Amino acid sequence: MAYLDTTLKLDDLPPGESRCVQLGDVQVALFRQADALFALDNLCPHRGAPLHEGFVSDGQVTCPWHQWQFQLQDGQCRNIPGARVPAYPVEVRDGTIWINLKD
Ligand code: FES
Repeated sequence: MAYLDTTLKLDDLPPGESRCVQLGDVQVALFRQADALFALDNLCPHRGAPLHEGFVSDGQVTCPWHQWQFQLQDGQCRNIPGARVPAYPVEVRDGTIWINLKD
């Protein structure tokens, strides 16, 4: 699948913050950590909480509802074996964030 334009400017996502963007039927949680960008499916696989509202530290986001912890890099869950959320490649083109929904 090709990269899709989120229309979100990198400058509008300061380091340490996150956003939810809608791409077709998919809600994506975007996280900016220092100079790195990460994109995960926004819906927690447990009960569907919005992961972009989770607490981020140590390379992971903690779900705001029941504290499942997902690695930003690949979506693997650190505290529930076998659980995972899709992770998507991210690029910045001319200052705008693009996401490839291929997991
Ligand atoms: S909804 Fe995310 S851990 Fe329950």
